[in-house]
Amino acid sequence: MKTITYYTKNAEETQLLGERLARHCKPGMVFLLSGDLGAGKTTLTQGIARGLGITKTVTSPTFTIQKLYRKGRMTLNHIDAYRLEGISQDLGFEEYLYDDGLTVIEWAKFAPDLIPERYLEIKITLLEEEERRLDFLAAGEEYEALLEEIA
Ligand SMILES: Nc1ncnc2c1ncn2[C@@H]1O[C@H](COP(=O)(O)OP(=O)(O)OP(=O)(O)O)[C@@H](O)[C@H]1O
Ligand SMILES: [Mg+2]
Repeated sequence: MKTITYYTKNAEETQLLGERLARHCKPGMVFLLSGDLGAGKTTLTQGIARGLGITKTVTSPTFTIQKLYRKGRMTLNHIDAYRLEGISQDLGFEEYLYDDGLTVIEWAKFAPDLIPERYLEIKITLLEEEERRLDFLAAGEEYEALLEEIA
């Protein structure tokens, strides 16, 4: 499994990293974003959306767990599984995945049925104030290649 670590000094830098990632990603890819509340998962997703050419602002879905943004180079399928914590599984989650677009899942550990065999995981750790550490783990050759392209 290939890993790379990045450090960012503010939200804008995290978004720029997301933009770079999105410019190289391919339809059907799945990114799993982990990290504490307020780590920067949605902030990174906003950058990813920008990199796909989506002009609508990505927000944290409050009452829905899934939002689709269709007006870019490919559809962004943004899922936040936080509210699924403790809910029984087997809710037909496969249907949430989206072959033609990019799927970004926050709090995937609360929706284990959604985690595919191959994925890119990005673990965000809060350091001091606005500093963040982002650990990228590529599970699958196409994701290893993606990490090489953005390096
Ligand atoms: N380096 C940084 N990278 C990302 N966000 C940062 C950074 N520095 C400060 N921030 C701020 O931290 C907050 C991150 O909030 P965000 O909603 O992205 O977190 P989250 O991980 O999605 O949380 P949740 O688990 O509640 O969904 C934002 O207010 C953002 O501006
Ligand atoms: Mg969030």
